[in-house]
Amino acid sequence: MIEDLRLGAAEAVLEYGPGTGVFTDFILRELKPDAKFAAIEVNPQFAAAFKARYPGVRLFQDTAANARDICNYAGMRSVDCIVSGLPWAALSKSTQVKCLDEMMHVLKPGGRFVTFAYVHGLALPAARTFASLLPNYFTSVSRSPVVWLNLPPAFVYRCRR
Ligand SMILES: C[S@@+](CC[C@H](N)C(=O)[O-])C[C@H]1O[C@@H](n2cnc3c(N)ncnc32)[C@H](O)[C@@H]1O
Repeated sequence: MIEDLRLGAAEAVLEYGPGTGVFTDFILRELKPDAKFAAIEVNPQFAAAFKARYPGVRLFQDTAANARDICNYAGMRSVDCIVSGLPWAALSKSTQVKCLDEMMHVLKPGGRFVTFAYVHGLALPAARTFASLLPNYFTSVSRSPVVWLNLPPAFVYRCRR
């Protein structure tokens, strides 16, 4: 997920839907000490687990659809990267659009957005909708090869604004 993100050069990074914080560990290892980082997790139980695991990390228990207000509140005017664990295939088109619209207010021009999808989920209409929306927002969109050893098998979307 974090390959090619150049996190070591980032001034500010957001994580959407960190769950218990599996990706967070890898992100924090790469960030320079003065980089700003915040995570947005809507589920109160995951948010509580995240806070227990990373007491020093800013976590907003909120929806990524409110990213602009959250960034303003956090003093992060814009960010270099957004790492997302959001389950896009389970989100309505209106929520997908709201999250992507908000992203355009917080992600720097040239900024990177990375997210993953499960191969079996590609049959779902919402997954196809999400894939079709990406080129409307990003100048480049690429897909990694499928990681068959992941359970369930998944691939990564890498997008550049
Ligand atoms: C597939 S899990 C991510 C798992 C995480 N990357 C990990 O490896 O533990 C998706 C996460 O997105 C969160 N989520 C779903 N919709 C969200 C939204 N609109 N805003 C923020 N988080 C959301 C869920 O609560 C869940 O924690």
